[in-house]
Amino acid sequence: MIPDKAPKEDVFHGSEDLKKEAHVSSFDRYKELYASSIERPDEFWGDIAKDFFWKTKHTGPLLQYNFDVTKGEIFVKCMEGATTNISYNLLDRNVHERKLGDRVAFYWEGNEPGDELTVTYRELLQSVCRFANVLKSQGVKKGDRVSIYMPMVVELVVAMLACARIGAVHSIVFAGFSAESLCERIMDSQCSLLITADGFYRGDKLINLKLLADEALQKCRDKGFPLDKCIMLRHLSKEAEDTSQSPPAKRACPDLQVPWNPDVDLCWLSLTRAASDECEPEWCESEDPLFILYTSGSTGKPKGVLHTVAGYMLYTATTFKLVFDHQPDDVYWCTADIGWITGHSYITYGPLANGATSVLFEGLPTYPDVSRMWEIVDKYHVSKFYTAPTAIRLLMKYGSEPVKKFKRDSLKVLGTVGEPINPEAWHWYYNVVGEGRCPIVDTFWQTETGGHVLTPLPAATPMKPGSATFPFFGVVPAILNESGEELEGPSEGYLVFKQPWPGVMRTVFGNHQRFETIYFKKFPGYYVTGDGCRRDKDGYYWVTGRIDDMLNVSGHLLSTAEVESALVEHEAVAEAAVVGRPHPVKGESLYCFVTLNDGLTLSRSLEAELKQQVREKIGAIATPDFIQNAPGLPKTRSGKIMRRVLRKIACDERELGDVSTLADSSVVEQLFQNRCGAGV
Ligand code: WT7
Repeated sequence: MIPDKAPKEDVFHGSEDLKKEAHVSSFDRYKELYASSIERPDEFWGDIAKDFFWKTKHTGPLLQYNFDVTKGEIFVKCMEGATTNISYNLLDRNVHERKLGDRVAFYWEGNEPGDELTVTYRELLQSVCRFANVLKSQGVKKGDRVSIYMPMVVELVVAMLACARIGAVHSIVFAGFSAESLCERIMDSQCSLLITADGFYRGDKLINLKLLADEALQKCRDKGFPLDKCIMLRHLSKEAEDTSQSPPAKRACPDLQVPWNPDVDLCWLSLTRAASDECEPEWCESEDPLFILYTSGSTGKPKGVLHTVAGYMLYTATTFKLVFDHQPDDVYWCTADIGWITGHSYITYGPLANGATSVLFEGLPTYPDVSRMWEIVDKYHVSKFYTAPTAIRLLMKYGSEPVKKFKRDSLKVLGTVGEPINPEAWHWYYNVVGEGRCPIVDTFWQTETGGHVLTPLPAATPMKPGSATFPFFGVVPAILNESGEELEGPSEGYLVFKQPWPGVMRTVFGNHQRFETIYFKKFPGYYVTGDGCRRDKDGYYWVTGRIDDMLNVSGHLLSTAEVESALVEHEAVAEAAVVGRPHPVKGESLYCFVTLNDGLTLSRSLEAELKQQVREKIGAIATPDFIQNAPGLPKTRSGKIMRRVLRKIACDERELGDVSTLADSSVVEQLFQNRCGAGV
């Protein structure tokens, strides 16, 4: 499947400089290693495992699995029999064995320019041990779930690694999610403790996080799940003598509200002050759960994607090292939020496993101005930079001048993730940001895959703008047609994987059957990604986007069902159908069709109420761009909404294709006439 020769046309090659020191320095070397990773996976991953600390060694084959539902339960086990601790491998091993205690783990850069902090590996280890002891003192035990709802501060990393240290399972909820979303995730994970912060700023907008957390806990109580422990970090409301890790905020926060319930709330600072900074790690089984991370599901109910200790560690460490070609003098910066999988794998676990130095940024690319990213690149001499197409498109709008104000001569590798990158954005990233010097690693992966699965290696893979190129080691992709037949050569169809790699998810928390149904039932024998994909004549993979009822807004998945159910909960709405409409910055935006209850009209205020309702139920990321009144929806005779037709209406495209199954074609014309934002 992988070509013998590198293609000659339309391709970009990594710089010669990079090749000199690279871990994988040529396309031939990539092919060699790839072949060995597939033919002898135990040897391949076994060699990598030698770099890590195992309290006891594994027994039997390194990877054991069943990927075929017709043959029994789906399972994947990596390093069965071994025991280890991931926080030990990320921290103690780097401090004590590799003597990297004084190395900077994170340069924290706050929302406000000038708010900054440096944390070494030794300091991070100490803080993690302290907080691990705090968790223990609050009765958290191995296997317990802990929800974390925090801004991008060092303490977020501390909280997650403290969980990992004692074998508790963290469930991080992105701080942009609503109280309702947090409540749903707390209840699904049945967690025993919540960790949050008072508030934070995103640009000049204050988020009263504790207020939202309290609202979520009240909702949990109302639904019969009284969670009565909440540790709160004072991030904005810190006292002057405070010596915890974040510096005092540079601005006054008159609007900050910090409700406090002494029966429930505990103060991060006073608990940690009293705790010892030594904590023997809990030695976990390889397949013990490490964390749950919720991702949108096409039925509307988020799924708790579960990752386990050993396989996730090996996979994030290896992908980080090779995809960013990590070198000891690098300063690496991933702009994602830790609340998403990108932050889990490529801010916390992958970089720390390698002893890397990273920037941890709390703010926004446009605050206080649109040069902020490049200013930070120069300030810390960032050499490896990882961001999302939506951020690139946003900054592109302001032209090259804000970029050129800064030197960026430290940059060596650029990365992207979250959605297919359009060639225009690719070229701007390559030519303007990287000045034509830096290869771009377009990394395709999912919350479920744990780490990169299709990706170039920066010094080895000839790049084609818009293609995630080839599989990472251990990953075997295939393209299937609708009947589940594998297509050979140039082709287009469903992207699937034929065998597991160490970092693949193990189950949906609390619902293994749902895991099997979503990913393995449609095409037995394969893991189904839900993405469409094309393979070109040179064997390059081009992911074309979701082929299920999922939307990708700014690199984050939402399900149409999730937004629809938020809309129909409003008393005015009888029925709703949501589709994605291409958007120049966000990739896709939400276009919602609503059928109102009898006699109602879609006034401006009702429209605003509906948008607010979706925001409150899900979060700001799901705010609809358009809401259109739809007295009728296009349905098949069997009553299924034809989203394909709605997508065309949203884009004002009259070529509808085959509509012979439509029950009543007059509704379509009516919808075209009443489109919102006609002309857009
Ligand atoms: C979906 C997964 C993986 C971290 C961020 C999103 C899309 C992601 C790419 C890429 C084309 C991409 C896919 C995938 N996607 N990266 N490089 N090229 N599409 O994680 O929320 O689990 O979303 O994002 O559609 O299935 P996620």
